[in-house]
Amino acid sequence: MSSIESVLTETRIFAPHETFRQAATVSGLPAYQALCDAAEQDYTGFWAQLAQQEITWHTPFTETLDESNAPFFRWFADGKLNASYNCIDRHLEKRANKIALIFEADNGDVTNITYKELHQRVSRFANALKKQGIGLGDRVIIYLPMSIEAIIAMQACARIGAIHSVVFGGFSAKSLHERIVDVGAKLVITADGGLRGGKAVALKSAVDEALTLGGCEAVTHVIAYQRTGVDIAWNPQRDLWWHDIEAAESDYCEPTWVDAEHPLFILYTSGSTGTPKGVQHSTGGYLLGAIMSMKWVFDHKASDIFWCTADVGWITGHSYVAYGPLALGSTQVVFEGVPTYPDAGRFWQMIERHKVSIFYTAPTAIRSLIKLGGDLPNKYDLSSLRLLGTVGEPINPEAWMWYHKVVGKERCPIADTWWQTETGAHMIAPLPGAIDLKPGSCTRPLPGIIMDIVEEDGTHIEGTGGGLLVVKKPWPSMIRNIWGNEERFKKSYFPEELKGLYLAGDSAHRDEDGYFWIMGRIDDVLNVSGHRLGTMEIESALVANPLVAEAAIVGKPHEIKGESIVAYVVLKGERPEGEAAKAIATQLRDWVGKEIGPIAKPDEIRFGENLPKTRSGKIMRRLLRSLAKGEEITSDISTLDNPAILEQLKQAAG
Ligand code: PRX
Repeated sequence: MSSIESVLTETRIFAPHETFRQAATVSGLPAYQALCDAAEQDYTGFWAQLAQQEITWHTPFTETLDESNAPFFRWFADGKLNASYNCIDRHLEKRANKIALIFEADNGDVTNITYKELHQRVSRFANALKKQGIGLGDRVIIYLPMSIEAIIAMQACARIGAIHSVVFGGFSAKSLHERIVDVGAKLVITADGGLRGGKAVALKSAVDEALTLGGCEAVTHVIAYQRTGVDIAWNPQRDLWWHDIEAAESDYCEPTWVDAEHPLFILYTSGSTGTPKGVQHSTGGYLLGAIMSMKWVFDHKASDIFWCTADVGWITGHSYVAYGPLALGSTQVVFEGVPTYPDAGRFWQMIERHKVSIFYTAPTAIRSLIKLGGDLPNKYDLSSLRLLGTVGEPINPEAWMWYHKVVGKERCPIADTWWQTETGAHMIAPLPGAIDLKPGSCTRPLPGIIMDIVEEDGTHIEGTGGGLLVVKKPWPSMIRNIWGNEERFKKSYFPEELKGLYLAGDSAHRDEDGYFWIMGRIDDVLNVSGHRLGTMEIESALVANPLVAEAAIVGKPHEIKGESIVAYVVLKGERPEGEAAKAIATQLRDWVGKEIGPIAKPDEIRFGENLPKTRSGKIMRRLLRSLAKGEEITSDISTLDNPAILEQLKQAAG
């Protein structure tokens, strides 16, 4: 591949604030360098020492890394541990009465829960799960709103060695069904409904619908947590109320000690082809990744109030809500609602109210809050903040500067964290007391994370040219497999051409100082509001509509969401125009909302009698992408079978 041109030139540099640097766990560049050198000199020794130090093992491991069946790497494989024990029990001796979770509901009500109370509730729920026949290796689907219960459900599964798979509450019954079947779930945990921005969201009814779709015979029970009190359908043979089954149980549940490689969870994420991929994570290595990144990147201290705004339905809500903060004995804020309700000052008001010191959110949220109230943060006391973070997509330098000035008052470093569902934890991100920041760059890899930029054949790219972002060595919190599909795992992440390098699927370049700049995805995966959406999934959903003959999805840059979704659609009947086109577009958008979930609804739908295709019948997405952006098509279209179609597709229906 000829190297990818970068158009972004950003020269501003921000050194760590002196007071921050002095107090930081890793203070000054030499300290960061020393950690990187230690990892380089003895890679496995470096990780072994951290694993011994940071994790409480039931049985210590003797072998650090087993590469004999690469790329199915095994870390700490003969060690035994329990993730829930590490997140809760080990804090009880010294911090039993420390607040673990500060839960703020959509309407502003606050519920605190200490480590001791969390221990009792997780134990009771774990015992209740056991009573329903759930045990080691069983898969449990969790489809819950952001709540204390969502965290309890995840921790309870971990406690008994059951493997959870959390499905984001915004996904439709169809998407939920697909995941229940693929993972072979035995149990579904849900709520009657959720509350977001003052509106009720139905959850249990989606589970009911999903379970009628077939292939879910393994599901014996549905546990429902009562959140909203709405009327729901009830199947007495199958359904159980959370409060009923929890009440009868004992306050203690002995943790099930599992092998370090035992899957802690499976989380689905979009790929460019086929159905979503069930990303399988381990227990030991995953936990180590979550812990080290909390310490290195968030510089987490016992006195911090930590708040990661991500939903537990995404990897960020796994590593930096359900596991990382608890493993460190942190006090964290958990939020049920949305950043814009009752107004766009909600985040800032909550930071003031709970004295949040570390705040972690997504660029898409930052951009929308700038638009809705760029000076709203000034109305609140944000002096408790000492560190800010971002995740999910590149942050544009202007949004970065606003975050830095208006929220961080030029005092708080910003950790722009690059990572993925598959990496389990941060990979490239500043250690904020050590590394100077450049707006828009995720800076440098974490110690013990060996990244590179290469050509399509795996050759290292010298200098500052762009190319494929890869990881050169296995790391503890890496994906272990795509659930039930070893071939797809190898093909997706360790393609033969790359000779053992992990392919992240992003393009990036490195500047003269060794800083990484992420340029975007190399596959057909869109990044909409920090969430990966497969174009193929949306196309399949559209084609499943009886009106649609053919569909192609492309992304288009969007001021707030990062990327918006443009659909090119060919109907089975005539190409609609005017009001008719608008009505069908609305109908198709709702259809996609129902098939996948509201986040996948196309922002724009354009109808054509056909799509631009090569003579061999391949859809030319490159042209569709240019059309969506409104660019003139100047490239060679001589291979196109039907050039006239381009003119027709320029017109949007809405
Ligand atoms: O393209 C990169 C982008 O999000 C992808 C991973 O998406 P997902 O697995 O859903 O996880 C999101 C939360 C970790 C990456 O391949 N991405 C994530 N963080 C950044 C980013 N792009 C640029 N800068 C980031 N900080």
